[in-house]
Parts: sequence; structure tokens; C-alpha cells
Amino acid sequence: MRYRLTTAAFAAGVVFGAAGSASATDLEVTHWWTSGGEAAAVAELAKAFDATGNKWVDGAIAGSGDIARPIMIGRITGGDPMGATQFNHGRQAEELVQAGLMRDFTELAEKEGWTKFIHPKSLLDGCTLDGKIYCVPVNIHSQQWLWLSNKAFADAGVAVPKNWDEFVAAAPALEKAGIVPLAIGQQPWQTTLAFQVILVALAGPETFQKIFGDKDATLAAGPEMAKVFAAADQARAMSAKSNVQEWNQATSMVINGKAGGQIMGDWAQGEFQVAGQVAGKDYTCLPGLGVNEIISTGGDAFYFPKQTDPEKAKAQEALASVMLSPATQVAFNLKKGSLPVRGDVDLNAANDCMKKGLEILAKGNIIPAPDQLMSADGVTQVNDLFVEFFANKELSAADAQKRFAEIIAAAD
Ligand code: GAL
Repeated sequence: MRYRLTTAAFAAGVVFGAAGSASATDLEVTHWWTSGGEAAAVAELAKAFDATGNKWVDGAIAGSGDIARPIMIGRITGGDPMGATQFNHGRQAEELVQAGLMRDFTELAEKEGWTKFIHPKSLLDGCTLDGKIYCVPVNIHSQQWLWLSNKAFADAGVAVPKNWDEFVAAAPALEKAGIVPLAIGQQPWQTTLAFQVILVALAGPETFQKIFGDKDATLAAGPEMAKVFAAADQARAMSAKSNVQEWNQATSMVINGKAGGQIMGDWAQGEFQVAGQVAGKDYTCLPGLGVNEIISTGGDAFYFPKQTDPEKAKAQEALASVMLSPATQVAFNLKKGSLPVRGDVDLNAANDCMKKGLEILAKGNIIPAPDQLMSADGVTQVNDLFVEFFANKELSAADAQKRFAEIIAAAD
């Protein structure tokens, strides 16, 4: 710690000593971005912040958001707040905001005109509680993607599928070639993500909204959703030999041609990029599983726990500002594989899959993320159910659907 302070002071002296106008402030920023692509993206945020004359102190927490969030919340409620922290914008930080632990950035937002350039508007709504803005959205990350390995399909002697049904039909050929049809990491959120993506693709956005938004338990128990559970059952069979935990290990299986595909958010693109793979040539992306081209406009946001040190409070503002600058938005999102929160930036350098995402966004084919619709407690119960469903073949699709409907009936 002493070393870090000394280094920061030295850097401040060198960079700003002459002008004498600013001094570097260390700001610890916690997040769960630890895969190759994520680390490359977060380095862009750090670089932009350091260029303001302050110092990004990286507080990466490995393992996934499910592991990181309780640690972050514990620090904030326990009186050891970090300078800034990632959450998915929506309802994850709701209770911390209600408890008065987060800074209100409404004034800065008004001064900088955030409402004028943040697009779609729902991104800022996800940061707003009782008319006040408590977070800075940094990206739109959509979950509704099927990533396919062109090599795996070539090795199995079948054409790269164009939609979910073709993918399911290709599974026996993949298996015969010793390839796992569908790679899924076993962490709770990943199996739920696969289920939610199948739901939107096969049952459509209205059903998704009615279930997660309106908590329509009758619909959740009905025949439309029975089709979704049947497809989830197919996904379970296709992923039976996928014995990895982390999402990026599953992406690696697709990159290496050991798996046919993975249902995963757009952040998988960061991994393909780090591996030097090219969209369209080495891998194929099917938004909405090639059935319903819809993307969710959830994403990542940074929240700023209240500070007693006025210098840190000032540095928080600098960080909030620079995260939304056009240059940072482009640099960060190109590495992350997500879409910028500003509609006014130049994304010519985007790859084919990101361009598909931008087109879907421009058409307005968007839905909110479940985190924006359901309380964290409800989301956890759904997660638990799908971990069990994917791990336990004895749990039938019909019984899982019954339990799902019960969770929806009780959720808020
Ligand atoms: C999500 C996060 C994404 C992402 C992913 C996997 O919660 O919002 O940005 O990278 O986890 O770590």
C-alpha cells in the first residue's frame, strides 16, 4: 500500500507538478471482468481514467458476478466502500441505493446532458430511482446469441446451422465426430442464461415480458412454455458432456472446435478476438438463435459508493465522465464485444456480429434484461432451478416447469 501511494505521488509530481493544478487520486474499482477479452476491455477504462491524472486501482474479483456481487455488497454495507463498482444496471444495487449508500449523480448527468446521448433511454432508467441517477451505464450487453464453431461443423461434415432447429438436428453428427454439441459452463447464471435465450427465441418477446415483467404464472405453467422447457431439455442433452465451469472455458471449446456452439452473451466476442478469430470465417453468430432476432438491452454500469474523502469524490466524478466519453465508449466496447451506450459514436471498426447487434438495436427489436424486471432474489431462485435442471437428468421438463411457475407466482 505504501509503495502504491508513493508511486502515485511520484507520478502526480511528474505529470502535474509543473502545472501544479491537479494531483493523482487512487480510486479502487471493483468488477468481475477477468477473462482475456474482459481484461482487455477493462484496461481501456483504466487507461482513460489514468489519463485524467488519477489512478485506477484495479479490484478485479475472479469467478463471476454471482461470486463478486456479495463481496462488493459486503464491503459497501460493512463500511469499506471502494471508489466505484460494477453491477448490472437494473435492480442489483437497488437496496444499496435505497439505504443511501450510493452517490447521486443527477447533477453531473444534467450538466453533461446524459439523457441527450444515452440510447436507448432504458439504460439510464436502469440507473434511476425516484427520479435520481445513481449509475453510469457503460455498455449494452445482449445475451441472445448462439456462437458456432465453423471448424466443428466442418469436422463433423455438416453445414453450419442457420437456426436452433438445424443446430439440434446437427447434434448427432457432432457427437459422432467426438464433438460436444453445446458447451455450457455449470455456473448458475449460465444455465439460466441459456434458458432465457431459448425462451425469447422460441416463445417470443411478449411471452418473455409477461413472465419476467408481469410475473404471469399461468403463462409460465402453460403449453407455450412447455415448448420452451422441451427445448431446454434438448439443450441439456446436447451439453451433457460439457464439463467446464466458467463461461470462457466453454467459449474456448467453441474456439478450438471441441464444441459445436455456445449460447452466451456478446462478451464471448472478446474471447474470439483475443484468440485472433474472425466473425464469419472462423465462427458464426446467430442472434436470437436464428429464430427471433431480438437483443436485450441490459448491461454493465458503475456505481459510486459515498466517500468521506473529498478528493476521492472528485475522482469519482472524473471516472463517471470519462466512462461516457465517445473515445472510451468505442475503445472499451470494441474489446468487450458489447454495444456503446451512445448512439452518436463511430463504430466502423465493429466486426460482423457487432454490426448485426447494431442493426437489431436500430430496428428497435429490444427487450429489457431479467435483472431489470425481477428482484435479485427472484433471479437467484430461477438460477438455482436451472442449475438443478441441467445437472439432474431425473428432474423432468414438466416438473421443472411446474417449479418455475411457482417461482414466478411468488416473485416481485
Ligand atoms: C455479465 C457482465 C458481462 C460479462 C459477463 C461474464 O454479468 O455483465 O459484462 O462480461 O457477466 O463475466
